[in-house]
Parts: sequence; structure tokens; C-alpha cells
Amino acid sequence: MKGKFISFEGPDGSGKTSIIKIVEKFLKDKGYDVLVTREPGGISISEKIRDIIHDVNHTEMDPRTEALLYAASRSQHLNQKIKPALLEGKIVLCDRYVDSSLAYQGIGRHLGLENVLAINMFAIDSFFPDLTIFVDVRPEIGLKRVFSTEEREKNRLDLEPLNFHEEIYQGYLELIKRYPNRIKKINGEQDKESVASDAIELIETIL
Ligand code: TYD
Repeated sequence: MKGKFISFEGPDGSGKTSIIKIVEKFLKDKGYDVLVTREPGGISISEKIRDIIHDVNHTEMDPRTEALLYAASRSQHLNQKIKPALLEGKIVLCDRYVDSSLAYQGIGRHLGLENVLAINMFAIDSFFPDLTIFVDVRPEIGLKRVFSTEEREKNRLDLEPLNFHEEIYQGYLELIKRYPNRIKKINGEQDKESVASDAIELIETIL
């Protein structure tokens, strides 16, 4: 693959999306060809799967169904959008990837990290990012941000209680220990420009 694949992870309300926008502009201004995409979604089939998962009325959804749907959406997104962009030499900035499933479904939903890793290894055919940036914001701070922003759409997972989000946060810390070369942590509780400049510093190490 000629390009670079960079994923962004973090708890709900970590500000990843705004950080990615700043990073995108910086890289484009430097002349890089950049593709920004998000999970679950980014393309028609995956966006439809996303709507099924996130529908606040789907309270009866079984955790295994949820995990399989995220994995299905990921597989399509990877093959239809991410890999072709990498072949063209683009820098792909992806808002969430496999670590979200490991943290949210593996730990948050108690399905077990190994089980969720196994279905995802099948879904992504062991294709991991070159770099994963974890935007570190404590879950209580993240949730406060989610609920203080009126226009932000609240999904089925945002509505889970604080202890669900705390477990996910601990899950992410475990993942950083498991993949120390791939996942790098930055402090997401600073102002946006500082968070983005920390992300850029990390990205520059792999360009
Ligand atoms: P989104 O509205 O994109 O929120 P955010 O800006 O925080 O990324 O919703 C993504 C939600 O889906 C978020 O609550 C995390 C959850 N999620 C999983 O539980 N597993 C996954 O594999 C992915 C990709 C996301």
C-alpha cells in the first residue's frame, strides 16, 4: 500500500471529529492527498448498517448482533473505500476503526476482547492502521460535552449509563498496552488546536 492509514479513537465526546478536520486541513495545505472517512459508515451500505445499529428504538438489539453489524460495516468500508484510497497513495484519516469494537463491544458489552477481535480479524482480514491516535478524554468529561451540545445527534450508545463509558475507557487503556507500537495517546482535554497539533506531530513520524 502506497498511502498511510490513520485511525482516531476515543470515548464519546472526545472531539475526534473536530480534530480530524484541523489535521485534514493541515495535511492538505502541505500538499498531501487526504481522504477523511468515518465508521460505522462512509459509504451507502455501511451508512445503512449504521442507521440500524444507532436507532434509539432498537433497544432489543443483542450485543452479538451489534458486534457483527459493526464488523460487517467495517469490512465493506475497508474494501470499498479505504483500501482503494491507500492504493492511490492517499492519507486516510478514519474516525473510529477496529479498536472501537474491541473497546465498546468487547469490554463495554462484555463480549470479551478475544471474541470481538476474532470476528474482526475475519472482517478486516488482519488489516490494521499504520497509526491509531487515541484522544484521551475522561468519560465523564466526554459525556458532559455530548449532552451540552444541543445540535449533536445522540445515538443509542451515548444514552448508556456512565459506568458503560467508564468500562470502555478502561478498555482503551488496555488496548494501548496491547498495541503500544500502533496506538498512541494524546491529551484531548486541551484546547482543540493543541490536541490537533499533538496529533500532527505523531502523524509526521510516519510520513
Ligand atoms: P458517532 O455518532 O459517530 O459518535 P463519535 O463522534 O463519538 O464517533 O457514533 C459512533 C458510536 O458508535 C459511538 O458511540 C461508538 C460506537 N461504536 C461502537 O460501539 N463500535 C464500533 O465498532 C464503532 C465503529 C463505533
